[in-house]
Amino acid sequence: MQWIPPINPKRFHLEELLAARDISLDWLNSNDLDPHSPANIARHSITKAAEIIPFHYRDAVTDSPEVLSWLAELVAQARDDQAGRGAPTATVTHGRSLLLLGPTGTGKTHQAYGAIRELAITGVAATWVVTTAADMYAALRPRHGIDSEAEFRRYRNASILLLDDLGAERKPTEFTEEVNFRLINWRYENQLPTLITSNLVPKEISARLGDRVTSRLIEMCQRVVFKGPDRRRGEAA
Ligand SMILES: Nc1ncnc2c1ncn2[C@@H]1O[C@H](COP(=O)(O)OP(=O)(O)O)[C@@H](O)[C@H]1O
Ligand SMILES: [Mg+2]
Repeated sequence: MQWIPPINPKRFHLEELLAARDISLDWLNSNDLDPHSPANIARHSITKAAEIIPFHYRDAVTDSPEVLSWLAELVAQARDDQAGRGAPTATVTHGRSLLLLGPTGTGKTHQAYGAIRELAITGVAATWVVTTAADMYAALRPRHGIDSEAEFRRYRNASILLLDDLGAERKPTEFTEEVNFRLINWRYENQLPTLITSNLVPKEISARLGDRVTSRLIEMCQRVVFKGPDRRRGEAA
């Protein structure tokens, strides 16, 4: 871990988030010159998060109790693991997954990017890979000069994965079904934490994703259902 100089909270849209979690800027920017300190890891994670979070969600703050408790569990597990191994840093490697369900515009993606920022400020290290399901299928389509399996392993092995909009494609194909199964099965078997969003309603999941994927999702994920109007239309009105 490299040492990260003090960061400007405005540049990373941190003021609301730090205030909400009662984390002081003095702590975050503590100048202890220790690259393994939680504060340094937090600064590192905040800069990495800003690279992977789309502009629209740059200041997202999670307000879902279920998302917050899922993150707290991952953090506690990482710290226990660190204590058990006498490791220099606490790192998220294993844990439960979370499935955010709800119609379009109910704030699932907002919560998901908020979760990345939330985990960043804890000072527990986590290396996110972030994708929409549609972008992942496109990246995995066999084509000249691309090692699709190597690309697949990047998603499959991510220490923590955000898979946004699973099941949103109009027509599942054999290809998307196979990718879904291989990805979910691997992450299930290895207990790799995965944050999944989907606009399917619970009843549609097994028809859409198949029994084998659904059964694993049920076991590995806590489910949160978001309700309410489409916030995007609300904004337009
Ligand atoms: N808690 C929130 N606070 C402020 N804006 C929000 C919140 N949740 C969602 N939004 C906004 O509402 C819109 C829809 O949210 P989004 O997370 O993209 O929905 P979904 O992923 O469920 O389709 C976006 O413009 C988003 O920025
Ligand atoms: Mg979304």
